[in-house]
Amino acid sequence: MFTILTGAQFGDEGKGKIIDVLSSDYDVVVRFQGGNNAGHTVIVGDDTYKLHLLPSGVLTDARLLIGPGVVVDPGVLLGEIKMLADMGIKITPEKLGIDAKTSIIMPYHIEMDKLREQKREKKIGTTARGIGFAYIDKISRDEVRLAELADKDAFSEIMNELAPQRERAIIDLGGDPGVVREGILDYARYGATLKPYITDVSYELNRALDSGGNVLAEGAQGAHLDIIHGTQKYVTSSSTIAGGACTYLGIGPTMVDQVIGVVKAYITRVGEGPLPTEQAGDAGDRLRDAGGEFGTTTGRPRRCGWFDAPLARKAAYLNAYTSIALTKLDVLTGLNPIRICTEYELDNERIDYPPELSSDLARCTPIYEEVEGWDQDISVAGMFSDLPDAAQDYVRKMGEILKVDVKMVSNGPKRNQIIVR
Ligand code: IMP
Ligand code: MG
Repeated sequence: MFTILTGAQFGDEGKGKIIDVLSSDYDVVVRFQGGNNAGHTVIVGDDTYKLHLLPSGVLTDARLLIGPGVVVDPGVLLGEIKMLADMGIKITPEKLGIDAKTSIIMPYHIEMDKLREQKREKKIGTTARGIGFAYIDKISRDEVRLAELADKDAFSEIMNELAPQRERAIIDLGGDPGVVREGILDYARYGATLKPYITDVSYELNRALDSGGNVLAEGAQGAHLDIIHGTQKYVTSSSTIAGGACTYLGIGPTMVDQVIGVVKAYITRVGEGPLPTEQAGDAGDRLRDAGGEFGTTTGRPRRCGWFDAPLARKAAYLNAYTSIALTKLDVLTGLNPIRICTEYELDNERIDYPPELSSDLARCTPIYEEVEGWDQDISVAGMFSDLPDAAQDYVRKMGEILKVDVKMVSNGPKRNQIIVR
C-alpha cells in the first residue's frame, strides 16, 4: 500500500502527530521534499520531539528514508540524530537511509538566502535555511549531492570549481565571501559520517511495494506553499502536493492507494503572503495562544485566522484526497460563535474558489457563516460520539466542504488524543 500524506493549508497543520499515529501501520516512512525549513512536533508521553529533517515516523519501528527531492543540511541532520541518541533512540543506517542524489544545503546557500531576502522589496518571509538556493543549484545542475559530499575527491573537485563562483555571487549580494570556504572542512567530515546511510530510495520503495509492503510518503509545508500551485511568490521552493511525492520519489502514479490531507480546524500562516481570514485582534490571539501557534523552526508567531473554505477546496483539487485528518479541533473550544469563510467577495462578485494570483487573493474579502461553538473540554473525548453536537457538526461541515470523509480528528497534542471514525 502506498499512502501520501500532505498538508492542505500553509504547513503546520499537525502532520507530524498524524504520521506518528499512522506509522505503526507502515514499513517505511519517507520524506519527499523540502528541507529543514519544516518543523514537525511529535509528543509521546512527557517527551516532545522537534524534528526538521528526519521523518516523523522516527518513534516507531518503520524504516525511515529521505528521498532525493529533499534538500539536506547535514549539520542539522546529524544534530537531530545526536539529539535522539541522547534521548535513547539510535538512528543507525539500518533505521535511516538517505538517497545518494539528495542535494546538500551548503553554507553559501544559507548566506545567499539571507542576503537575497534582505534585498527584496517584497519579502517572502523565508525561514533563511538556504532551501531556495539549494533547489536553484539542483535545477541549474550545480548541486552537491550526498554521494559527492561522501567522496572526498569528488567533493573537492566540485568545490574547486564552484567556490570562486559562489564567492563572487555573495560579494554581489553585499555579503562576506569567507563563508564559502569556512564550511568546507566540516562538510567533508559530515560526508564521511553520513556515507553508511546512502541508499537508492526509489529502488527501495518500489521493491517494498512490489513485495506487499506499506509505504507512507510524508509531505512538508502545505498545498498553498507549493512552488507552482501555491500563493506565489510567497511559497517554498518545492512541490508540496501529492503528485510531487511520485515525482520526487520515483514512484508511478498508478501505485498510489491513498492520499490523506491534513487540515487544521482553523488556518495559520508564517511568513508573508495573503491570508484572507487572518484575525489581527482578539480571535487571532486566542487561536495563537490556545494552539501554541509559534513556528517550530523559527519561533515566529504564526498569523491565525478562521477556516477558509475556498482555499480548502483548492487544496482538495490539487491533491485529490481520499480522506482527511482534521487537527487541533480542541483549540476552537470556548470560541462562540465560530466563523467559517465559505466564499470571498472580489470586485463585487461572490466566488467560492481562490483567484489564481496572489495579488487578487490579497484583495478578497471573506464572507463568513457563523456556527455554534462549544464550551465542553473535548480533549478527553475518545470517540466521535463523545464530542458535543456542535463539534460533531463542525467536523461534518469540514467533510462537506472538502467533499471527502474526515476519518481522523485530533483533539489534543498527545499521541492518544485522536478520534478515528
Ligand atoms: P522557505 O521555504 O524557507 O524559502 O520559506 C518560504 C515560505 O514558506 C515562508 O513564508 C516560510 O515561512 C514558509 N515555510 C517554509 N517551510 C514552512 C513550514 O514547514 N511550515 C510553514 N511555513 C513554512
Ligand atoms: Mg511545522
